[in-house]
Amino acid sequence: MKEELEALLLDIEQRSFDSADAVEDFRIEYLGRQGKMKDLMAQFREVAPEHKRELGPLLNKVKSSVEEKVSTEKASFNKKSTASSSGIDSSRPAGGVPHGTHHPLKVVRREILDIFSNMGFGVVEGPEIEDDWHVFSGLNFPPEHPARDMQDTFFVERDPDLLLRTHTSSVQVREMERREPPMRIIMPGRVFRNEAISARAHCMFHQIEGLYIDENVSFADLKQTLLHFAQSFFGPETKIRLRPSYFPFTEPSAEVDVYWGLETEVDKRITKGTGWLEILGCGMVDPNVLEASGIDSKKYTGFAFGMGIERITMLRYQIGDLRLFFENDKRFLDQFAGER
Ligand code: DAH
Repeated sequence: MKEELEALLLDIEQRSFDSADAVEDFRIEYLGRQGKMKDLMAQFREVAPEHKRELGPLLNKVKSSVEEKVSTEKASFNKKSTASSSGIDSSRPAGGVPHGTHHPLKVVRREILDIFSNMGFGVVEGPEIEDDWHVFSGLNFPPEHPARDMQDTFFVERDPDLLLRTHTSSVQVREMERREPPMRIIMPGRVFRNEAISARAHCMFHQIEGLYIDENVSFADLKQTLLHFAQSFFGPETKIRLRPSYFPFTEPSAEVDVYWGLETEVDKRITKGTGWLEILGCGMVDPNVLEASGIDSKKYTGFAFGMGIERITMLRYQIGDLRLFFENDKRFLDQFAGER
């Protein structure tokens, strides 16, 4: 009987099948009611007790080998059949789920807000449709100032006092009217100007405004705050310079440049051969502006600054055309997939 069992084990091992039905036939051949196992059990019962000790385990092995073979062969036919009938291979590892990407303007906006939040600035927003007072008069724009001109500003037809804000400085006025100093705030938002759309100009873009009012705020505080911002955003070695400038709402006023370098031809072109690039406007809040909003200009001083998010984003990622931000071309947006 021993030889017979060993031959069967070999047979089980070597069997191969071309269909699930063939596997089932094999199962019945061994384990079915009239199957080989049944005969073997009958034979085993007749074996002399001294041989049972050796033959018992062999007999068990035949049975378990058959069971094992049947279960693995059936599983493999199952898999093949689902694959071929649906055209889907369910055993393939899953591909990644494509995630959306952050818009580059949003990435830069968040980064700038984070830097100022860390310096204790709170975030404040204001309305996009404004009145003349908050955009111009409250900021010391004289009545004949060209920025009020129809050329620059979108007015609301049914009410000559209403317009789309041309800068986020309007939010300063709202906050100064609403609150007492000290105040340290950063104000992001969308602004609108009646401009022809080109690689460098758009009728809608984004700004971030900053305002700090307290007793004894000085120009040195302004300079140090902006230096800290520039170095946090562009890198710790970044140098800045302040050039005298003019804005109706600040006195003195300045424009801030960062040193970009002159290493490449592109650097030379975008910095017009100087190595310096303008990033924002700033200054000490004009006492007229403080007084217009009910703040005592004898007691308090402050600084303000404003920057264009598009401009800073173009510098950061070397983007040459402003229009790309608003076209939502997936090939453009996908390049920012790694950004937070
Ligand atoms: N509002 C100015 C603009 O749109 C930017 C600006 C300049 C804001 C100087 C300020 C400032 O707060 O102090 O061009």
